[in-house]
Amino acid sequence: MDQNITLYVDGNRRPVTVDTRTTLLDALRDRLDVTSPKKGCDHGQCGACTVLLNGRRVTSCLVLAVAYDGADVTTAAGLGSDDELHPVQQAFLDRDGFQCGYCTPGQICSAVGMMEEAERGSPSHVSANLNDPVELTDEEIRERMSGNLCRCGAYVNIVAAIRQAADPEAEQIRQARAERQRNEPVLREDDAPTSYQVSVSGEEGR
Ligand code: FES
Ligand code: FES
Repeated sequence: MDQNITLYVDGNRRPVTVDTRTTLLDALRDRLDVTSPKKGCDHGQCGACTVLLNGRRVTSCLVLAVAYDGADVTTAAGLGSDDELHPVQQAFLDRDGFQCGYCTPGQICSAVGMMEEAERGSPSHVSANLNDPVELTDEEIRERMSGNLCRCGAYVNIVAAIRQAADPEAEQIRQARAERQRNEPVLREDDAPTSYQVSVSGEEGR
C-alpha cells in the first residue's frame, strides 16, 4: 500500500510516495536521491545510516518513513553550510578523524546526536551517576559512539575530534601538553655522560 508523505530533508521540503513498508533509509536513498546516509548492514548494527530525525539520532534503516510524515531529517550533508562546516565536521577535519565515505557520515551525525544527549544529561551505560551532568570523558565518548562501526578498525582520532567539538579550549590545552611531552627529552639513567663517553666524544681532541 502506498502513502504520500512529506519529509523535510536538510531543510528542503521533499514530498514522496512510499510503500508503507519502506524504511526511512530507503526513502532517502532510493526515492529522494539523498545518498549521504549509507546502507551498511540494513539491520541496525553498523550505524552507517545514522541521521538526525527531529534532532535525535536514529539508525534510519530501522524506522519506517511513513511513521515520520512531516519530520525534519538532517543528514551529514545538511549539517554545515557551504561557507561553514559544522563544528563536529571541522573537528573531524582538524583531528584527522575522517574515515571512509561509507562510515563517516553516520559517525558525524551520531557524534552530533550524542553530544546533544550528553548536554541534556542522558546517562550512558558507563555513566557513574544517573543524575550528575554528563562529562564527555574518552570512556563516555567511546561508549556513546559504540553503535557506529568501522570494519577497518581505524577509530583512533574520532575521540579527539569529538573532544574538540565538545570543548575546543580544553582540547587545545590537552594537545599542547601532549606536544610538550612528546618534545621533552627523556633522560635515562644510562644517558648521563660518563667520563669515558666524554673522553671518546672527540671534542677534547679538536
Ligand atoms: S545500515 Fe542501518 S545500522 Fe547498518
Ligand atoms: S568502514 Fe569506513 S573506514 Fe572502516
